[in-house]
Amino acid sequence: MTYKNEYIASTQHPDEFWLDQARNIAWFQMPEKGCQKTDNGYYEWFRGGQLNTCYLALDHHVKNGRGEKTALIYDSPVTQTTQHFTFSELLTQVAHFAGALSSLGVAKGDRVIIYMPMIPQAVVAMLACARLGAIHSVVFGGFASNELAVRIDDAKPKVIVTASCGIEGSKVLAYKPLVDEAVTLASHKPSACVLFQRPQLLASLNEGTDYDWQELVAASQPAEPVAVDATDPLYVLYTSGTTGKPKGVVRDNGGHAVALHYSMGAIYGISQDDVFWAASDVGWVVGHSYIVYAPLIKGATTVLYEGKPVGTPDAGAFWRMIETHKINVLFAAPTAFRAIRKADPDADYLSKYDISSLRTLFMAGERLDPPTYYWASEKVGVPVIDHWWQTETGWPICSNPMGLEPMETKPGSSSVPTPGFNVKVLKGGDVEQIKGEKGAIAIQLPLPPGCLTTIWQDHQRFIDGYLREFEGYYSTGDNGYVDDDGYVFIMGRTDDVINVAGHRLSTGEMEEVLAAHPAVAECSVIGVHDALKGQLPIGMLLLKDGVAIDEEALEKELIQRVRDTIGPVACFKRAIVVNRLPKTRSGKILRKLLRQIAANETVTVPSTIDDPSSVKEIETLMRQKGLVDESSIA
Ligand code: COA
Ligand code: AMP
Repeated sequence: MTYKNEYIASTQHPDEFWLDQARNIAWFQMPEKGCQKTDNGYYEWFRGGQLNTCYLALDHHVKNGRGEKTALIYDSPVTQTTQHFTFSELLTQVAHFAGALSSLGVAKGDRVIIYMPMIPQAVVAMLACARLGAIHSVVFGGFASNELAVRIDDAKPKVIVTASCGIEGSKVLAYKPLVDEAVTLASHKPSACVLFQRPQLLASLNEGTDYDWQELVAASQPAEPVAVDATDPLYVLYTSGTTGKPKGVVRDNGGHAVALHYSMGAIYGISQDDVFWAASDVGWVVGHSYIVYAPLIKGATTVLYEGKPVGTPDAGAFWRMIETHKINVLFAAPTAFRAIRKADPDADYLSKYDISSLRTLFMAGERLDPPTYYWASEKVGVPVIDHWWQTETGWPICSNPMGLEPMETKPGSSSVPTPGFNVKVLKGGDVEQIKGEKGAIAIQLPLPPGCLTTIWQDHQRFIDGYLREFEGYYSTGDNGYVDDDGYVFIMGRTDDVINVAGHRLSTGEMEEVLAAHPAVAECSVIGVHDALKGQLPIGMLLLKDGVAIDEEALEKELIQRVRDTIGPVACFKRAIVVNRLPKTRSGKILRKLLRQIAANETVTVPSTIDDPSSVKEIETLMRQKGLVDESSIA
């Protein structure tokens, strides 16, 4: 079936199309219905269906005689370790850890926070939760205690699962003190913490609440998979919004399994015999969908890499991985390839490795900039596919459907809408699609299976944040345009979310940290272009009257505060003092205008501006400080 037929079938007859796809997974109870409207004004998929996501990822393959096939390859250059787990071995570990969680009282519907480095136990913990019907919430290791505390208070987990340390390049980072501090900061107190001791740094355990992973597992019985409803939540994954409070994206079990299984074939062209490597982290949505769930549900081999694209030990790391594990499809972030290119512009390391197993290189997390696209295409010599998606959707909204019908690639475009996603470009409350013009990108409801069902404990925030702007559509928060051939070009965010090294961060959250400093009267944080990381956050500060403070010392203090409150992943490294910030007459800082100056775009000065001369002043200062992306054409 060609892409066009499939796309039309999926958008014109979504029930039929997705029920057909649903037949490809092993339900305990096959659903009779596809999509239904719910009482809370939204949609749900596959009501009546019952399944267990861990069963699909592991037991199903073992039952079908594929237990001896490799499910997971763990490759850790930072610890010089490689481990292979067959489906049977992984199932044994997961069933035992599920039993261990169960012995701590974790049952269907309970939340478990997982704060882990990239080690197999992170995957085991996620699947163990799924086995019990418990809801996991994985928190990325680069977030500080405060961020962890915010998530503890929102998710109210019964248990936290962690490890003694993470290893970032040559740094060994203690995790347990961060978890302890987070629990102290949070109002909600989990009843237990399970810790996996790593030999690189042992942690001491608190009497009564902390459990050693291995001891607990040794004392537990394996647990069987629990049948859950298709509509029951599998996980909550927090992502940055425009305010300081992260949004808990809720993913269901049924729609998620069906969509991910479909995507492995239709988008990535992956069969059960393939090796798939998503070079991300389990703390991000890419890690959830394409390190853990999708490849395993498909029955393919997945790869867990505890290392960096460069520096562990060199810019040949990705090529070594491909050769060693005979990787067929790699999914990485453009920033990783920019890092490799910077360290090894001629890709000299490539000649040392045989990467002939590689068929396709997929990129996401941020727009694949054309220079990186051309470099990667030329050096790697396989199709390089930009594809666009979000934590909220859980799988690609737009891609080149390599498994259905490989299409021409257009540099700068994430190709065409994936079957199921009815993508439109809209403008200012107008739901008429605009051809060729830039506007807000929205998806007509209902969204296909696998997308978020709500925001954890805050359905109103879900409605207000995603469904209000355009009646009958989901607002993606991205803008862009569609060309005459139907190719979608994503150009950036319409809100205050920025993208740093493929990581989604909220400038509003950083502003809260800066504003809490006693010297700061007002501030604004915007993302400015960075050749390696795509964007970097910059703070602009208005000081309180009469404050005399050394600007460099203030900058250092603020950098530390952001590190301690949000985490090193924010990459907050610059804060400059300004005399004025452009504002409206009602005193609102014109952040969009600042973003336009930074992007070297034509500035639209609103009629509501308080003092038009402040625009020229701030632009001059930003140019002097090198904060304007001169590489982009004005
Ligand atoms: N635990 C603890 N700290 C972490 C961390 C983790 N899991 N991940 C990152 N950090 C820290 C880093 O050590 C660094 O700290 P530092 O300021 O003390 O040096 C900081 O957070 C910033 O990390 P990062 O943005 O990763 O920068 P880097 O210079 O170490 O590496 C890249 C740059 C481009 C190589 C790296 O960002 C990368 O590989 N990005 C790909 C991102 C990705 O896969 N995104 C998923 C979307 S598909
Ligand atoms: P996250 O939720 O962390 O996956 O980040 C999602 C956001 O990253 C999107 O809303 C986009 O702004 C950006 N993004 C991800 N992939 C792409 C892509 N291929 N092209 C353009 N932007 C992307």
